[in-house]
Amino acid sequence: MTYDYDRVASFINSFGKDDEGLLGEIYEKAVSEKIPVIRRETREFLKVLITEKKPMHVLEIGTAVGYSSLYMSNYLPEKAHITTIELDKARAEEAKENIKRLEKSDRITVLTGDASEVLKTLKKGFDFIFIDAAKAQYINYYEEVIKIINDGGMILSDNVLQEGEILESHYLVAKRNRTIHDRMREYLYRIKNDDRMETAIIPIGDGVALSCMK
Ligand SMILES: C[S@@+](CC[C@H](N)C(=O)[O-])C[C@H]1O[C@@H](n2cnc3c(N)ncnc32)[C@H](O)[C@@H]1O
Repeated sequence: MTYDYDRVASFINSFGKDDEGLLGEIYEKAVSEKIPVIRRETREFLKVLITEKKPMHVLEIGTAVGYSSLYMSNYLPEKAHITTIELDKARAEEAKENIKRLEKSDRITVLTGDASEVLKTLKKGFDFIFIDAAKAQYINYYEEVIKIINDGGMILSDNVLQEGEILESHYLVAKRNRTIHDRMREYLYRIKNDDRMETAIIPIGDGVALSCMK
């Protein structure tokens, strides 16, 4: 059977609830300003993962305006902490402001800078890492992420199927997208063939890869 994913997503999302209050406003503002935020069906998946895993130390790569961090904080244990990295200064400032408005400044720390550099400054100890930044960079974050994740930790990488374009051969992809395409394929190959982890690629939202460290 083949099916239209957009119809499936609408069906799945018809069961989900909208965020209430300020978090809902932050989400709507981000969408209206075309700031990329986690898709509704992906966030539901993320919610279930962290509800089951109960990580105490979470790292996010790609904060944007703080929506997904704030969303995750609603489902984490009370004393859990999120560290989130954002390259764009204006977005990082907006994220800090949003976090303050929701009175979560003691639970979420925003680090401003290029994740490739910031990751090198972090110590091992994360139980859950959500990778949601520039797709061509995932391969660069990879070894640094492995150094700082705990044994048994989980890595969720978002947007790995690139709206289906990842399936196309190199030459059928528009020239401007070829680097991202090649690097994401290399990333998927690496995480699927790394003996230190088990990975499943799941076609939800824009595609996620869920990796569990052994
Ligand atoms: C898809 S958005 C993140 C959305 C956010 N996780 C959410 O769902 O609310 C990706 C973000 O990664 C940031 N980004 C891109 N390259 C980065 C890098 N090298 N280091 C840190 N952040 C980066 C972008 O500026 C953008 O805000």
